Amino acid sequence: MEFKKNFRLGVASASTQIEGGRVNSNWNWFSDQNKIKDHSDVARANNHYELYDQDLRLMAQMGIKDYRFSIEWARIQPCENNFDSDALIHYRDMILEMKELNIHPILTFYHFSHPMWFEEKGAWTKKENIIYFLRFVSQCLDVFGDLVDEYITINEPNVYAVNGHLFGVWPPAKNSLTETIQVMSVLALAHIKAYELIHTIRKKRGYTNTTVSFAHHVRDFTAKTGCPLDKASAKIFQSLFQDKLTKAMFIGKFEFPLINYGKVKQGQYIDFIAINYYTRTAVKNFSEGFMDDCFKNDLGWEIFPQGLIAVATDLYTVLNLPIYITENGTCDNNDSFRNRYLYDHLKVITESNLPIERYYHWCFIDNFEWVEGESARFGLVHNDYKTQKRSIKQSGHFYSKIIKEKGISEETYDSFVKHQHYHK
Ligand code: BGC
Repeated sequence: MEFKKNFRLGVASASTQIEGGRVNSNWNWFSDQNKIKDHSDVARANNHYELYDQDLRLMAQMGIKDYRFSIEWARIQPCENNFDSDALIHYRDMILEMKELNIHPILTFYHFSHPMWFEEKGAWTKKENIIYFLRFVSQCLDVFGDLVDEYITINEPNVYAVNGHLFGVWPPAKNSLTETIQVMSVLALAHIKAYELIHTIRKKRGYTNTTVSFAHHVRDFTAKTGCPLDKASAKIFQSLFQDKLTKAMFIGKFEFPLINYGKVKQGQYIDFIAINYYTRTAVKNFSEGFMDDCFKNDLGWEIFPQGLIAVATDLYTVLNLPIYITENGTCDNNDSFRNRYLYDHLKVITESNLPIERYYHWCFIDNFEWVEGESARFGLVHNDYKTQKRSIKQSGHFYSKIIKEKGISEETYDSFVKHQHYHK
């Protein structure tokens, strides 16, 4: 397999999942309520806030040159009227170190976590609260906006809205469809406002190469049976979970049930298509599940590489822009099929005619997997949470090798992939 010219392979992470430490955020609050399945504490995670130097060096040593990461709002703005200059400088230093190591950053402003003072104001249920997010974005740009050209405003607005406000399995643990739609609408507007703000600020400062998007979590929805009702409900699920948001956030077209709170005009509100893809969802009797007899990862999610091209094609029809896969990866606690997973997803990308320019593997080091805690391992590098010792997994060695080789040779396939099999 030979990757396309200029195709880049990187890794992705999120501050809350790796940093550790006690900050006054919605996820620290949730974790303190003993809501994490394995009773682990988000305050432990990878202790990356202290160990970032070691982790970035390991990344560089593995030949990884592209990194998508996020910053912790609750750390930077612990109270509404106080920005913490130490935290801001910390992130500036961290980005400077990436640059020194020749690691190219994409910065995510919001990856599921925010300060509790923002939660207490109603967080994303109210359009009036967007201003707080914009102040945070603007403050960050003042301190390290000169170092980063590429930004993700918000990670997976649909996952945040649905898990937190519909299913109630994430903070703020609510169960309201009306609120879920409100939150999706507010997040869509927050993205558009942040998109405009980042461009305005950077332009004023003379930078002409800014690109901005949001990371869209998209699934390949399918009917589990040939029954017309299942087919229709799969379409409805897809539309409500992702397609409506695609239109609102890509081109400012807010369709029912989303609400155009900001009277946004139609236009273009992303500069590249950012896709987080993990699995396919099979719909039957108005509920979500997986196809029978399919290959699954250790969390029971179907492994379905072709779905990546299906979702990318859908998004590309809305806007013809370069595509970055900003997340793709799998929970494989024993690292026994991750190479095959990587191989199969890179194969469909390489064979496709779509302009897929980058691939960020989720994730670099095993980390705090939200409500699953420390029990679900997605990393190319193993973490021993007690000692915080990192060790490169064989999938990490595989990834290093294919970055270097700009493809996957027969020899590499034979030694890393051939013997690996998925389970059902
Ligand atoms: C999220 C990550 C998460 C990953 C695996 C994505 O939905 O952006 O934070 O760890 O999926 O579940």
